[in-house]
Amino acid sequence: MPTPIPLVIDTDPGIDDALAILLALASPEVDLRLVTTVHGNVEVAQTTENALRVLHLAGRSDVPVAAGARESLVHPQPERAGHVHGAAGLGGVELPPSPAVPILRPAVVALAELLMSAPQPVTIAAVGPLTNIALLLRVFPDAAARIGRLVVMGGSAWRGGNVTAAAEFNIWADAEAAQAVLTSSLPTVLVGLDVTLPTVLDEAGIARFAAAGPIGATAAAILQQYLDHARTAYGTTGVVVHDALAVTEAILPGTLGTVRRDVVVDTGLGFGRGQTLVDRRTVSTAPTAVDVAEQVDSAAAVEFLVSRLASLDAAPPDAARR
Ligand code: RIB
Ligand code: CA
Repeated sequence: MPTPIPLVIDTDPGIDDALAILLALASPEVDLRLVTTVHGNVEVAQTTENALRVLHLAGRSDVPVAAGARESLVHPQPERAGHVHGAAGLGGVELPPSPAVPILRPAVVALAELLMSAPQPVTIAAVGPLTNIALLLRVFPDAAARIGRLVVMGGSAWRGGNVTAAAEFNIWADAEAAQAVLTSSLPTVLVGLDVTLPTVLDEAGIARFAAAGPIGATAAAILQQYLDHARTAYGTTGVVVHDALAVTEAILPGTLGTVRRDVVVDTGLGFGRGQTLVDRRTVSTAPTAVDVAEQVDSAAAVEFLVSRLASLDAAPPDAARR
């Protein structure tokens, strides 16, 4: 087994964020070194509490959690996503409280310290609004330059939006931060709706990890509100766990088919705000180009997620890492 990739997840848990964190903990290819939280689906105090409780659920309250930005850089996010993720962000499921508390250092400082001290390149999976990552770029540019890979769940090249007709939620929540990050020349993979929406976790897959044991059963319970929302909003009998697909790419680089594209974000205040404008006319050679995910083997991605989530109950968490 090669040396695990040091991984940070920047997140706004969030139902699919919770699944993404559990997926990382179930994957020996990565070493989850830090979770940084950000406003987004719900307020940052809640996303932080949720991150602590999800880590505790999997027996990994040893993973440090650092709280980050409570609001977007310029224009406050118009609304949260409690109607999708539940008022407390985890589908109405009350997880047992963690014995751990957030570390005292704010997310941006914790990120900078980790990046400056890491002996090997660190992957950051950013699966919420990009406020923390934009602040890292502006406050600690030398640390940001040491990011090995930045895997962003956000935007779309041709599938339009989910929070508005034009915009995907994470980008829309902080369009200015997204513009700064996606034009920063950081080695970025953009995992957007084009590849997440076709990747549907169905009830049969959920049942498989639900039957594996208490962690899988709790993950399934957290998903239930997402399932109900999908059924009423899209008429589908499955859920799109957007963030888990992005973390899959962080765990297994190359899972998704990507093309280097120039990407900009509409930071206007009109109907297009938060839209990612992906130039698909050419393959870009610009240093600011982003690796945009355009192909996915959805069946393989779902199987990977289901089997890894089921494994959390099969093998007790690695005690050595506690
Ligand atoms: O559009 C999907 C994204 O918005 C996911 O990160 C989900 O958690 C929500 O934050
Ligand atoms: Ca998220």
